[in-house]
Order: sequence, then C-alpha cells, then structure tokens
Amino acid sequence: MPHTNRKKKNAGAMPLNAENKKTVVHTKRKEVLDEEGWVHVVDTPRTTRRSTISKAALHSGDFEINGVQYVNRTLEEMRVELAYWRKAWEIDEACAGLKTALEKLGEQKIGKVVVLGLGSLQNARREGRRASYTQLVALEIVMAVLGARVSTVFQDPQFTDTDKLLLKELGYEIVEDPEAFQHIVESSLVYAIHCYADVYKEVSEQKTPAVFIGTDVENFGRFNLSETAEVTAKALEEMVKGYESVDFPQIRHDFSDTKIYWRKKLEEVKPEVKPEEVKP
Ligand SMILES: C[S@@+](CC[C@H](N)C(=O)[O-])C[C@H]1O[C@@H](n2cnc3c(N)ncnc32)[C@H](O)[C@@H]1O
Repeated sequence: MPHTNRKKKNAGAMPLNAENKKTVVHTKRKEVLDEEGWVHVVDTPRTTRRSTISKAALHSGDFEINGVQYVNRTLEEMRVELAYWRKAWEIDEACAGLKTALEKLGEQKIGKVVVLGLGSLQNARREGRRASYTQLVALEIVMAVLGARVSTVFQDPQFTDTDKLLLKELGYEIVEDPEAFQHIVESSLVYAIHCYADVYKEVSEQKTPAVFIGTDVENFGRFNLSETAEVTAKALEEMVKGYESVDFPQIRHDFSDTKIYWRKKLEEVKPEVKPEEVKP
C-alpha cells in the first residue's frame, strides 16, 4: 500500500530491526511501529521521547476538511486497498456467516439500496478506513445474495472527491445530504452502519424500508442517552415493529451492535387482535 508517510512493516524500503531502529531515532523524523504492524514516520523534535508520542499523532492525516483528518490516496491506491479488503473479507468466516444470515430473508424485491454514513475511505484512522472498506465489500455480498444489482445511492458528508470517484467507478450514485433520505421507500434496503442518532431519526421518518441494516435498535436506546437518541430509539423501535431480525456477523468491531431487520411478508403478519375483541 504505497503512501508518503506510512509504510507497512518490512515493506522493503525501510525494514525496522534492532540495528536500524537506533539510527532512525537520531533523525528528526521518527518511525513509530503501531500495534497493527504499520510504520508511521512522524515529525518530532529530538527531545521527544518515544513514549510521549500520542495516538493523535499516529492518526494525524495529510490534510483536514471540516475538522476531519484524511490521508492522501490516489484512485489507483484506493482500488488496490479495496481489492485487499475484499479478499480479506471473503475469506473471513463473517462473510460466510452473512450469506447464511441473509438466507433467512427469503426472496426480497429490493427497488433501491440507500447507503448512509459509510465513512471516508481516506479517513486518517486506519481502523476507520478498514471498517469502511469492509462495510463496502460486505454490501456487495448483501446485494449479490438478495438478488440482482439494483440502483444504489451513497450519502456521507465526509466523502472526499476520490471516495466519490471510486464509488462512481463501482457503479454507485453519490448524493448530497439530505437527498438520500428521499430514496427510502417501502422497497428500499437501507444500509447504515454505526450512524449517528439524527441520521437514524431521518430514516425512521421515511416510509418503512423492506430491509434495514443498522444499529441494534434495543441497544441504541440503552446506550445513547441524549434527547435526540431517546426520541430516535423510540422511533426506530416503532419502525422495526413487525420486522424479523438477525445479528450481523462480526468481524473485529466493523459491524459491532449491527442487526439486519426485514419486513415480514404480508401473509406472515397476523393481525393483532386485542383480547376484548375475541368473541367466544
Ligand atoms: C460513526 S461514523 C461511522 C462510519 C463507518 N460506517 C464506521 O462504522 O466506521 C458516522 C458516519 O456518518 C456520517 N454522516 C453524518 N451525517 C450524515 C448524513 N446526514 N447522512 C449520511 N451520513 C452521515 C459521518 O460523516 C460519518 O462518516
């Protein structure tokens, strides 16, 4: 994965070993090995000790937009990363688990896929990028299992121009906030992993989609205590009433607390009868 200031351990150019570690420390730029095996080249004064380099420094990016840090990537580099994470996902047991989970949904006639809050594939946080790439390739499986390729819109205010180029190249449409919400209709599949309360609130105010993949509604209410979150939790609970659900298979934390909800087929929905209405 070529990049100006991050190198994979043993990538060839500057392998870290006991001998050359010392040399590196004497330069003004310092190499720091993170827990995932990535070598970060960090500008640091000679007096800065290794132990004082903060996590923030490790996650500082090449540029910033609206307070969000990003790393430089060419479109070609992003294609390579996408291929890497697709391969990693396809051999993970979560991928097989997802296919099995999706079988439960039976035949679904999805008219439109609406993807909210994927996150930028140029996010400066490597775990953030990894989650977004993994969520993107998992979506490919969802779409493959649920049927033919349908029109898909993505919305995330944090997308960079290169994110949009890559997504367009994959055949997706990118819309600006808040347009995507209008695309949520009864035949839609909404894919919104780890989104904020206001995004889910908007979803709950649209027509109830055929499939909703997002935060576990029960946990949403339990762990998000802001006023918006409480209102959202109630609205989401209402939305998924009469839905079936299954946990989204886990890989790292990329789908933590995520569930797949789908509307029961009309013939499976028994009309609720209040006890007093039951005549002997
Ligand atoms: C917590 S991040 C989740 C990113 C990624 N899905 C993940 O699991 O790491 C929430 C994302 O929602 C996006 N977001 C915020 N407002 C949004 C909106 N109105 N529509 C779509 N996405 C939105 C943010 O830009 C951010 O990328």
